[in-house]
Amino acid sequence: MFTDASNFVNGVDTAFAVILGFSVFFLIAISAVMIYFVIRYNRKRNPKATNIEGNHKLEIIWTVIPTILVLVMFYYGWAGYQPMRDIPKDAIPIKATAQMWSWQFEYENGKTSDTLVVPKDKAVVLNLFSRDVLHSLYIPAFRIKEDVVPGRNNQMWFIGQKEGDYNIFCAEYCGDRHSQMLSKVWVLEEGDYNKWYNDTTASADPPGLQVMKKNACLSCHSLDGSRIVGPTFKGIWGKTETVVTNGEEREIVVDEAYIRSSIYDPNADVTKGYNQGLMLTTYKDIISEEEMGQIIDYLKTLK
Ligand code: CUA
Repeated sequence: MFTDASNFVNGVDTAFAVILGFSVFFLIAISAVMIYFVIRYNRKRNPKATNIEGNHKLEIIWTVIPTILVLVMFYYGWAGYQPMRDIPKDAIPIKATAQMWSWQFEYENGKTSDTLVVPKDKAVVLNLFSRDVLHSLYIPAFRIKEDVVPGRNNQMWFIGQKEGDYNIFCAEYCGDRHSQMLSKVWVLEEGDYNKWYNDTTASADPPGLQVMKKNACLSCHSLDGSRIVGPTFKGIWGKTETVVTNGEEREIVVDEAYIRSSIYDPNADVTKGYNQGLMLTTYKDIISEEEMGQIIDYLKTLK
């Protein structure tokens, strides 16, 4: 607690400590009074029960004091929450895209990354988008979490105040591999951040692999033959495969046309033994013709 990892840690931890403090105090106080009453008013010590008809003073006390306590809790909760809604105008905008089951971050200069890299002591605002279902971006160390809703642009902001790397989780159940929808946020000194930001050295990966990484294909399709959510890409080119089309089984050979239709219309022909409806996005507007060619070239190399 109270780590200063982000500008929100203090506010959230204070609210948590206040509420926890009240809860512990009342747990002890109520238990103590209860035990005292059990002893003091048992049948041996108090053979004849008294019927108490009402007591205005007592009723006012037990109405007013809890009201004040609840308002105190509300005050600390509000003080911790309100700054989260107050996004500074000069915050660095980063687009965060969620999809089953990965995160992608896109910067103003077009740089993309699957890790969120931010400069220390600078306000950053994340514009949250989903390509398919509900997700939620959660950075526990920063005490922030925000839903990522298809068709909406939710926002969250923060200032990373301590260099280091922190976990990012998805906090909204989004399917088979929800628990593996993980990433990191790196907080770097400004100099290191600028170096990273301006480094546009091309990746050493073949172009087709870059396209697939960018679109999270590999969170469901392995390259090494192992079964994840969808069929592996290893040895897929030219393979004879049984697919289910409109409930009918048929045999196809994996060629250009099949790869194209599997990306643009993922649920039309589903490989036998795999579930339909897990690949929700049609990549028609996302993967260009050029990228499609790169993917096909790359898949041919995966013997
Ligand atoms: Cu995305 Cu859970």
